[in-house]
Amino acid sequence: MTATAATSPTNEAETPLSQAARTAQLYGVDRWGHGYFEVLENGDLAIKNPLNPAAPPLSLPEMLHDLQQRDVHVPMLLRVTSFLENEIQAINKAFLGAIERVGYKNAYRAVFPIKVNQQAQVIERVVDYGRPFSHGLEAGSKPELVVALSQNLPPDALVICNGVKDAEFIRLAILSRKLGFNTMIVLESPREVETVIEVCRELDVEPLLGVRVKLTQKIGGNWAESSGDRSTFGLNTDQLVAILDKLRDAELLHCLKLQHSHLGSQVPDVNDVRRAAIEACRYFTELTAEGAPLTHLDLGGGLGVDYTGEKKANENSINYSVAEYADNVVEIVRYAMDEAGIDHPVLVTESGRAVTATSSMLLFNVLETTLYDGPSCPEAEPDDHHLMTDLLAVQGYLAANRLQECWNDASFYRNEMRALFRRGTIGLRQMARAERVYLYLMSKIRSQAASDPQAGDLMEALNKEADIYHCNFSLFQSLPDVWAIDQLHPIMPLQRLNQAPDRRAILADITCDSDGKVDRFILSDGESPSLPVHSIDDEETYYLGVFFVGAYQETLGDLHNLFGDTNVATIQLRDDGGFVLLHEQVGDTIAQVLSYVEYDPYDCLAAFRQKVDAAISDGLLKASDRRELVGAYRDSIEGYTYYE
Ligand SMILES: Cc1ncc(COP(=O)(O)O)c(C=O)c1O
Repeated sequence: MTATAATSPTNEAETPLSQAARTAQLYGVDRWGHGYFEVLENGDLAIKNPLNPAAPPLSLPEMLHDLQQRDVHVPMLLRVTSFLENEIQAINKAFLGAIERVGYKNAYRAVFPIKVNQQAQVIERVVDYGRPFSHGLEAGSKPELVVALSQNLPPDALVICNGVKDAEFIRLAILSRKLGFNTMIVLESPREVETVIEVCRELDVEPLLGVRVKLTQKIGGNWAESSGDRSTFGLNTDQLVAILDKLRDAELLHCLKLQHSHLGSQVPDVNDVRRAAIEACRYFTELTAEGAPLTHLDLGGGLGVDYTGEKKANENSINYSVAEYADNVVEIVRYAMDEAGIDHPVLVTESGRAVTATSSMLLFNVLETTLYDGPSCPEAEPDDHHLMTDLLAVQGYLAANRLQECWNDASFYRNEMRALFRRGTIGLRQMARAERVYLYLMSKIRSQAASDPQAGDLMEALNKEADIYHCNFSLFQSLPDVWAIDQLHPIMPLQRLNQAPDRRAILADITCDSDGKVDRFILSDGESPSLPVHSIDDEETYYLGVFFVGAYQETLGDLHNLFGDTNVATIQLRDDGGFVLLHEQVGDTIAQVLSYVEYDPYDCLAAFRQKVDAAISDGLLKASDRRELVGAYRDSIEGYTYYE
């Protein structure tokens, strides 16, 4: 039995929701979940197979337990291929549907930008699941072109080369045509055209060329500044004219087949997409009029992901669906081309985020907690400072209508006590008691405010004074955009969801960096400075998941504090509710991360061994200590960088 099935208002009135359903609502699972998640009545968070809605959901805690039996441990990046396959089908089917509805007379060809997730396990599956739709690849660099040309792409898939290109890049792109690849070289700058002309003469192979136009249309969201006139990529009108002339002079104008433009990632507002498509069509008709035999119109990336489920045009959400995006684009291009009397071009988009973001999640355990809570109130003592007496007295007027006043007073007296401690007026023990009284008062105020519907503002302020749950992950390695651009990802516990969460926490990672924390969360009623969580005891392993991390996060991450790549498990959902472990990538060992930063781990081991030997010679250690010391060092070198 499941808990997140949407209930109609009448049903809600008739049947009280189970605790599991209420918890699902609290976290907003149905809002942001894209239909991939479900809270089970036993309190487990489960994932659903979008390719077979009749398949039973897979409990994530049970899956983790199974993987642990196989020696695959958290922290772990879990890739769900069934989600990836579903997203690839979704975008292609959305365009095919739009083409049919609008009466568009040409094809849609998606290309996946390799930079969004370069991992071999992901790229190979994008190609595989995209094969029925001739889904191609976009390479923004030489290494990415090398990846693209190693893939088993279908004959009519495209390989689009964007980015800065040198002669080597261009030579490989042109030569790949001999193998049947539809490799399009998109000219991004006037300098590139000179190199293309030179390499073409040298090779005597006809290239497929494109031009990247710089649209003036600006977008909202995180990439607003890099859109429009100030975009660092693309050709302005003057440069376009110069390139057309150069290609004509070099007798290569007939090779110019594609026009490309890219607005930026995660475009929040669909009307920006529309306006950009209109502008792109103007360029297309003008370039055609100039004699360029264009056949492909590439509108780049930009299709966003609704990370928060708000369906609003802001940094972490979007006000449109994939189907709406496709309908709008196809409709605009059709009208524009019909008006100009031009054949409909092959429509190309370069969506990566929307294809891979939802298919990966980061799963980790809580290591320990710092609770901002006082279970009991210390007694008054005869030599207490009068501020301590005032602080203790707050208990006497803790009443529903005075909660804010109580909090004001408790904070004031506690802070004054801290000032006295700093000046040496009170000692450590009295200060410690004052802190305990404050925490006790806080928990009393919080529990009274929680049951008072009028105390919304106070509750919001109290939620900022949340516990700290210390978790087994590195923000910098696994969630770099949370740190760098305040990206919001859905986050929630994986278990005990049939119990109401009784605490609020922020999440601290295991780096020694005060920035290594998550303190913005998305819940059903909007953004919150803390996450509802459960009290946990020492015996319990409490897991949390951060969702939709499949775009950009994997390779943008860095080695802060030398925490390396986490373990990665790639699973496929089975029709019977089970899963197949398709691939395991063991996370970096300490030896590996040391080698990334120019150490030879075995030199380090040798140096350590020498120190041990010197200490034995100096009589500081016994010879028999050597095995234990050197063994401990070696075990560390060969171990996981995360808490095991
Ligand atoms: C040229 C180009 N194409 C495609 C993309 C991917 O776009 P998105 O993140 O919207 O999938 C990018 C990234 O910004 C890009 O620069």
